Amino acid sequence: MKGIILAGGTGTRLFPITIAVSKQLLPVYDKPMIYYPLSVLMLAGIREILFITTPHDQKSFEKLLGDGSHLGCKFEYAVQEEPNGLAEAFIIGEEFIGDDRVALALGDNIFHGNGLGTLLRGKINIDGASIFAYPVKDPQRYGVVEFNEENKAITIEEKPQKPKSKYAVPGLYFYDNQVVELAKKVKPSARGEKEISTLNQMYLDKGKLEVGVMTRGMSWFDTGTVESLDDATEFIRVLQNRQSEMIGCVEEVAYLHKFINKSEIEIAVQKYGKSKYGEYLQSLLAP
Ligand code: G1P
Repeated sequence: MKGIILAGGTGTRLFPITIAVSKQLLPVYDKPMIYYPLSVLMLAGIREILFITTPHDQKSFEKLLGDGSHLGCKFEYAVQEEPNGLAEAFIIGEEFIGDDRVALALGDNIFHGNGLGTLLRGKINIDGASIFAYPVKDPQRYGVVEFNEENKAITIEEKPQKPKSKYAVPGLYFYDNQVVELAKKVKPSARGEKEISTLNQMYLDKGKLEVGVMTRGMSWFDTGTVESLDDATEFIRVLQNRQSEMIGCVEEVAYLHKFINKSEIEIAVQKYGKSKYGEYLQSLLAP
């Protein structure tokens, strides 16, 4: 399975912070936002990843993440010229995806929880599509999934004014190879975007959409507004300082999953210098 991280968009809800800097490069506590979705795809065992950015931010992402070899991964980059919607990622990424399945992670979504890696690794041979549902207080900000009495998903609506449930769809999606052809058929919505919710509804209509409810043990944040960015930062700060374990440390994930070995961690320790991040990596080498 391949992975795509979508880090485009104009981030207007965060202006003036994002006038000159891509949202997905902003700090969430002690590391760039993009580290979190990247660590999630790596946890799923995905090592070939395409980063889709705006044309003017591409260089910065390349500077930060390079070709991925330092993480035992292979990174590629592509641009989304205009914010035409999430489903366009599969059209931009058509060549990269080739004949494989693909996972899409949104660059501003953060997940943390017990059993996350195991949950995601269960999706990599997906036939059809697999998404999640997460109960929130403000579903109208998201894609919303409605369930019937048998807990079967029956509709998916993008940012409905009157949400039919409290279940939002987080920005982490798994698809079989048909996604490329289906994405081409998605008609732009009223806001002019090829919506991921339309694509998911297509899979639902074919009886090929699996919706897993994420329970209490899982935490999900998106960071699209100043408040939610601040919440995510606070969450990471509190948890990391209490447990002395990092969330979203991509080198650690690569090391624990044997994508890289000790010598690559040693090189990373040099690269991150005297930062807490570097110190943390150093501590992984201690017996
Ligand atoms: C996007 C999707 C939405 C999803 C959300 C998750 O919204 O369109 O379906 O629930 O991400 O973060 P956006 O944040 O791009 O408005």
